[in-house]
Amino acid sequence: MSARFHQIGGEQVTWTLVLSVFSAVLGSLQFGYNIGVINAPQKIIEQSYNETWMRRYGSPIPHSTLTTLWSLSVAIFSIGGMISSFCVGIISEWLGRKRAMLINNLMAFIGGALMGLSKLSHSYEMLILGRFVIGVYSGLASGLVPMYVGEISPTRLRGALGTLHQLAIVIGILIAQVFGLDSIIGTEELWPLLLGMTVLPTVLQMTFLPFCPESPRYLYIIRGEEHHAKKCLKRLTGQQDVSDDLTEMKEEKRRMDMECKVSILELFRSPQYRQPIIIAIVLQLSQQLSGINAIFYYSTNIFEKAGVGSPVYATIGVGVVNTAFTIASLFLVERAGRRTLHMLGLAGMSICAIIMTLALALLERVPWMSYISMLSIFGFVALFEIGPGPIPWFIVAELFSQGPRPAAMAVAGFSNWTSNFIIAMSFQYIADYCGPYVFLIFGVLLLFFLLFTYFRVPETRGKTFDEISSGFRLLNTEQKQSTELEYLGDGSIS
Ligand SMILES: *[C@@H]1O[C@H](CO)[C@@H](O)[C@H](O)[C@H]1NC(C)=O
Repeated sequence: MSARFHQIGGEQVTWTLVLSVFSAVLGSLQFGYNIGVINAPQKIIEQSYNETWMRRYGSPIPHSTLTTLWSLSVAIFSIGGMISSFCVGIISEWLGRKRAMLINNLMAFIGGALMGLSKLSHSYEMLILGRFVIGVYSGLASGLVPMYVGEISPTRLRGALGTLHQLAIVIGILIAQVFGLDSIIGTEELWPLLLGMTVLPTVLQMTFLPFCPESPRYLYIIRGEEHHAKKCLKRLTGQQDVSDDLTEMKEEKRRMDMECKVSILELFRSPQYRQPIIIAIVLQLSQQLSGINAIFYYSTNIFEKAGVGSPVYATIGVGVVNTAFTIASLFLVERAGRRTLHMLGLAGMSICAIIMTLALALLERVPWMSYISMLSIFGFVALFEIGPGPIPWFIVAELFSQGPRPAAMAVAGFSNWTSNFIIAMSFQYIADYCGPYVFLIFGVLLLFFLLFTYFRVPETRGKTFDEISSGFRLLNTEQKQSTELEYLGDGSIS
C-alpha cells in the first residue's frame, strides 16, 4: 500500500494518501449532491405534496402553505448543517477524525431513507425530516473532511488536496443537476430514487474508510499515541524515516501544551486569537454572501428572466463551468497563493456582477444582452471557484494550530451555514424587490470583502501551521507592547 506512485511538486504521494483523501471527500460529494438535488425536481415534488394534501384533507393545498412547506424542505438542510457544524470540534476529538466520519454515515442512511421513502408513505414530513438529517450529515462532513484531509497531507500539498473537498462538492452538484433532468430520474415516479441515491457514496465510504489511517496529528497531538501516529505517518508518506514530520508535530504539541485547548468563547476573548477568528468568519461570509448560492438555487429562474433559450441546460452549463474551474484552481492554488487567488476571485466576481446588472437592465432594448448576462454568470461562477469557493475552507485550518483549530473550524462552519441559510431564504424576496439590480448588492459586498482581504488576510501558502500562528503571535506582541495598558486586568489571556 505504501508504494510511491507519483511525484507532485517534489512530494511523494502514496496510494494510502490517495485512498484516504478519496474516501474522505466522498462525504463532500454527498454534501454537494444534496445542495443540487432539490432544485430541478421542485415542481414535481410540489405536486406530490399537493396530492398528499388532497388525500388527507380532500382539497387542493393552499398556495401559501405549499410555498411554506417547500421553503422549509429546502432551508431546513442549512439548519441541520448549522447545528452539526458547531459540534464538529467536540465530535472529532471524542471519536477521532476517521471514526467520526464513519459514524456520520449513519446520518446519511437515515436521511436518505427518510427522503427516499417519503412518497411511498405519503408524508412530506418525512422528506422535511430527511432533509434536516442529511443537513446534519453535511454539516459534520463539511467540517470533518477538510480537517482530516488537511491533517494527513504533506505541507506542500495541503493546498491542492484541500481543494479536492470543494471539487467533490461541485461534482456532487453537477451529478445532481444532470440526474435531476426529467429525461433521467427527475420524473414523477423516480424522484424518490433521486433523493435516496445519496446513500450510494455512503456505502462506498464505509467500504474504504476502514482501510485508511487515522490522522497522525490527531493521534499524536491529541491522544499522545506516538507509536500509532508514527505508523500512520509511515503509511501516509511511504517513508521509513518520518522524523521531520514528527519533529514538526512535536514542536506543535509543545506549543500546544503551553497554549492548552481553546474553547469557542476564549477564541473571541483572547487577543491572540481574535484577529484570526475574525478573518476566518469574514472569509466564510465572503463565500456565501458573494451570491453564489443565489445562482445555484435560482439559476434556472435567472436564465429564464434573462431571456436565455433553454434555461435548464444553461444551469447544467453552470455546473460544468463550476467543475472545470474548480479543477483549474486545484493547479493554481499551489502556484499563486491563497490570498492572491481569493482577491482575484472577489474582484472578478464583482465585475461580473456589475456586467450582469447592466446586461439585465438593457435587455429590453438590446436582445443579445441575454448572451452577455449568461456569460457573466458563467464568469461569476468560474471566478468563485478560483477564489472564494475553495480558499476559505482550508485557509481557516491553516490559520490555527491544533489547540484552537477545532473551535475555530466550528465557528467558521457555523458562519458559513448561517449565511447560506440567510441567502437561501431571502434571495427571492430581495430579487422581487430590486429586480435586475439585485446583483449590484452582491457586487458591493464583494468589493468590501476584497478590501478586507487586502488589508487583513495573511498569505498561508507553503507555511507550516506553526509559522502562520507565530506570525499572528508576533503581530499580537507588537500590538500588546503598544497598547499594554489596555490589556492590564484582562484575565482572559491564556
Ligand atoms: C393541487 O392539485 C389540484 C388538483 O390536481 C390542482 O387543481 C391545484 O392547482 C394544485 N395546487 C397547487 C398549488 O399546485
